[in-house]
Amino acid sequence: MTVLEAIQKSAGFLAQKGVEPPRLNAESLLAHLLKMPRMKLYLNFDRVLTVPETDALRELVKRRGRREPLQHITGSVSFCGHEISVSRQALVPRPETELLAEAAWQFLATCGHQPAAALDFGTGTGCLAIALAIKCPDARITAIDLSTDALALAQQNALHSQLAGRIDFLLGDGFAPLATAARFDLIVSNPPYIPSAEIETLQPEVRDFDPRAALDGGADGLDFYRRLAAEARLFLKPDGKVMVEFGDGQAGPIKEIFESEKWVVEKVQADYSQRARILITKPSPAS
Ligand SMILES: C[S@@+](CC[C@H](N)C(=O)[O-])C[C@H]1O[C@@H](n2cnc3c(N)ncnc32)[C@H](O)[C@@H]1O
Repeated sequence: MTVLEAIQKSAGFLAQKGVEPPRLNAESLLAHLLKMPRMKLYLNFDRVLTVPETDALRELVKRRGRREPLQHITGSVSFCGHEISVSRQALVPRPETELLAEAAWQFLATCGHQPAAALDFGTGTGCLAIALAIKCPDARITAIDLSTDALALAQQNALHSQLAGRIDFLLGDGFAPLATAARFDLIVSNPPYIPSAEIETLQPEVRDFDPRAALDGGADGLDFYRRLAAEARLFLKPDGKVMVEFGDGQAGPIKEIFESEKWVVEKVQADYSQRARILITKPSPAS
C-alpha cells in the first residue's frame, strides 16, 4: 500500500467512525508514524509502506476510530510554539487558550516593577505557566492544580522546556496552597466551565478522555468564576489583574459575577471565530 492509498483508506474508516476531519486525522497519524511533517507526505505519495508500518498505522487508526483524541495518540500538542506532552491526566490545551497566554504575557511585560509575579490557577498540563515563563524570563510564575497527576505532567512539561526552578508548582484546592502573604500582578485561569449536565453531551474525545475535574464547572458552569471573583482579590497586588477564559454564552453572566463582587471589567476579548472568550478584570478602587 502506498502513502496515498493508506491516507485514503484510513480517512474512509475514520469518516465512518464520525471523526472530523477524517483526512487531516489520517494524514496526522501517518505523519506521526513516519516521523515526518504532514506536508512531507505530499512529496511521498508513491512511497510503499512496509508491513510493520502498515500494521502500526492500522493500530493508530483503530485507536482514533474509538475516538481517542489525536493528541493523546501522538502524545503532544504545540502550544504557543512550545511542545506540551499530553495524556489522560490533564486537559488537552486548546488553541483558544493561546489568546489568553498572549494577553497575559503582554500585561506581565508592562508591569512597572520587575520581577512580575503571575499565578496560573488550574494549570493542567502547565501550558499557560510554561508559555508565561518562556515569554517573560524575569517573571516569577506559580501554578496550582487540584490534581496530583496533572501537576506531575505539568512539572514534566516544565522540565522538558528547560524551566526547572522557574515555576513553583503547588498542589491543592483553589488558593488554599498559597501563603497568606502571596501577592500577584496577574492571576490567569482557564478553569473548568462546562455545566455538569452538559458533559454527557460533549464529543467522545472530550467526554471520555479529558479529566472530569478539568471540565466540570458545577450546575451552571460558573462555580470557578464565583470563586475567583470572591477570593482572587486577596492575592492581587494593588494594580493586579485577573484574566479568565470561558465558554460560549458565558461572557454576560461572568461579567455580572465579577461586577457584583466589585470588580471593574476592562475588556471582553473574542477569539478567532469572533466568540467572546476572555475576560480581563481588576478590583474596583473603592473595594
Ligand atoms: C480547564 S482545565 C485547564 C488546564 C490548563 N490551564 C489549560 O488551559 O489547558 C482546568 C484545570 O483546573 C484544575 N482544577 C479543577 N478544580 C480545581 C480546584 N478546586 N483547585 C485547583 N485546580 C482545580 C483541573 O484539575 C484542571 O487541570
